[in-house]
Amino acid sequence: MSDNFVLATGVDTLEENENRAFDLNGVSVLICKTVEGIYAVENMCTHQLQPLEGGRIRGCFVFCPLHGQRFDLKDGSPIGALTKKPIRVFPVKIENDDIYVDMSA
Ligand code: FES
Repeated sequence: MSDNFVLATGVDTLEENENRAFDLNGVSVLICKTVEGIYAVENMCTHQLQPLEGGRIRGCFVFCPLHGQRFDLKDGSPIGALTKKPIRVFPVKIENDDIYVDMSA
């Protein structure tokens, strides 16, 4: 495993369709457990730079809790009119039921 991967949390600490933010190397990273897998994105909406933590997850999308902008967790792209700027996405690895995030991405 590359040295750039940082331990976030255990897979079992999150329910399906739940997300939680972790401070990894000084960056607030949102771990999202979806029906399609586990994703890691920067915990910041590109509309008004507010936290995405606690936003609803549907499929592989997260909705900003403030104004409802939707982002694709696979590539960070926004769907909707509020912003055209994608959110930052980090590669994830699962090892021994732990979630690791590549902070070099
Ligand atoms: S701050 Fe996220 S949609 Fe407005």
